[in-house]
Amino acid sequence: MKNIVLSGFMGTGKSSVGRLLAHELSMTFIDLDTLIEKDSGLAVKDIFSTLGEAHFRALEREAVTALVSGRTGDGIVVAAGGGLVVDESNRALLKNWAVIICLTASVETILKRTERSEQRPLLAGEQREAVVRRLLKEREAAYSDCDFSLDTTDLGLDEVVKTIKVFMERGVKP
Ligand code: S3P
Repeated sequence: MKNIVLSGFMGTGKSSVGRLLAHELSMTFIDLDTLIEKDSGLAVKDIFSTLGEAHFRALEREAVTALVSGRTGDGIVVAAGGGLVVDESNRALLKNWAVIICLTASVETILKRTERSEQRPLLAGEQREAVVRRLLKEREAAYSDCDFSLDTTDLGLDEVVKTIKVFMERGVKP
């Protein structure tokens, strides 16, 4: 089966879905944020605070380049960080390498799912709802540029995974 990249905003379920999807399809799961943390020896939030967002974005580009170079092999499900597909060249590289599936969720759901996370520097401030709304608007075109988009707001993990599997196996949007 082709590689799969899960894109979408923070809190849409990319990592949980990716892990289960990879397990059910007997594919390898890679969480790009975790990979960056392992390679750099720093947590994402510490990369943001000490080296800056631009540095993190450069590390994301490096990780994408390494991924599509084939060194990691095939049969991979990737959970991409929420801002990774904003970069057009990342999108172009990933499109050639994988099926891109964008997970979405309502603003309320995103806020709820991310409220306890201290690991997301972009949502660490006071105006969480305003930040989510602004970023979603800024990233609208980047998230729409995918093969299949799935709203996870009212779906359980199993339902999301099942729907993606149907899309991957039949090539049609269920
Ligand atoms: C980010 C999303 C995060 C992480 C970083 C920046 C973003 O990943 O890459 O905090 O710009 O949306 P998740 O989407 O996995 O939370």
